[in-house]
Amino acid sequence: MQELILNTGSGQSDILVGEGLMDRLKGMSQTFVLLVDENVLKLHPEKFESMVVIPVPTGESNKTMQTVEYLYRELIGLEYDRSILIVGVGGGLVTDIAGYVASTFLRGVRFGFISTTLLGQVDASIGGKNGVNLDGYKNMIGVIRQPEFIWCDYQFLDTLEDRQYISGLAEVIKYGAIKDRKLLEFIEDHMESLLSRDKKVLEEVITKCIQIKADVVQMDERESGERRLLNFGHTVGHAIERNYGLLHGEAISVGMDIAARLSVKMKYFEPEYAAWLRSILQRAGLPVEIKLDPGKIYNTIRKDKKKEGSGIHFIFLKSPGNAFSGEIDLEELKQSLDDLCKHTA
Ligand SMILES: NC(=O)c1ccc[n+]([C@@H]2O[C@H](COP(=O)([O-])OP(=O)(O)OC[C@H]3O[C@@H](n4cnc5c(N)ncnc54)[C@H](O)[C@@H]3O)[C@@H](O)[C@H]2O)c1
Repeated sequence: MQELILNTGSGQSDILVGEGLMDRLKGMSQTFVLLVDENVLKLHPEKFESMVVIPVPTGESNKTMQTVEYLYRELIGLEYDRSILIVGVGGGLVTDIAGYVASTFLRGVRFGFISTTLLGQVDASIGGKNGVNLDGYKNMIGVIRQPEFIWCDYQFLDTLEDRQYISGLAEVIKYGAIKDRKLLEFIEDHMESLLSRDKKVLEEVITKCIQIKADVVQMDERESGERRLLNFGHTVGHAIERNYGLLHGEAISVGMDIAARLSVKMKYFEPEYAAWLRSILQRAGLPVEIKLDPGKIYNTIRKDKKKEGSGIHFIFLKSPGNAFSGEIDLEELKQSLDDLCKHTA
């Protein structure tokens, strides 16, 4: 088992990466309630015996204020006061919702997460961003508040569908691309073990990714600088996710490939490195070649919340493991997308 600490000044999360972590709840003196992903509840019923559980409906369409209200009502029905500890158990969807509910219920109560997807363990559960979507706009409503603990139990990953698991690998590869060339090399060298969910390799990789994210969040909790690097591949990726119905990691994979090639086009990054990144994404089983309508992608990016003036922040690569945040003029991005999207089909 690995232990890490994320301390932002505004709050501290104690993070564990290991197996059988649910057993730790039994030793907890605090009264707690679990908000659990309904699929996780069905797949692992034995883990929740004799615990107070509120099931959370799954699917991005349920990441709404309606679900938040349902959870408030359940909590009120159970007559909890401010001393309750809320534990979100699930992937990024459930931990995002649970963190928001805990931050607002009775003006904020204590909370922790048990993360059950690869994407959740390396990304969504870490860093304190909690919230829900509104009218189809992602994460429009939310707070930044650090959970007291985050337990990343890779035993849960055994029941994760292949497509979801591979989607999580996109974020793993992203950390290597932006911060750690050695991690990229490790992923490449251990791809078979990673794809077969080898526990030893998983523990090492998940811990490394969390450490990278924790370091970034500690430097810049509210995303005014360094934290932006975590958005590598996400500007285009979010637009793809919204228009093409891919899973988050799948869309980010295509977005990272485009961002790497845009970095080459701008002469920041060597073409052979962009090809290397593409080959790692492909070996992981992630998409990079899909038919895209650049106009659709551009229009969605234009409406993106990070738009500032006539340009937007964009994350470029300088070398493997070394990214930087630059600005790109919208008109220039539009022209580049026309060109780059031709090579994704
Ligand atoms: N807060 C952040 O910083 C942050 C960062 C990235 C993504 N996110 C959010 O995370 C969400 C995506 O997270 P996700 O990819 O974990 O998806 P998810 O939580 O929707 O889970 C994906 C699917 O896997 C199922 N599942 C969960 N754990 C399982 C398990 N152990 N075995 C079998 N099935 C299991 C779920 O029921 C669901 O059907 C999005 O809402 C996204 O906005 C948040």
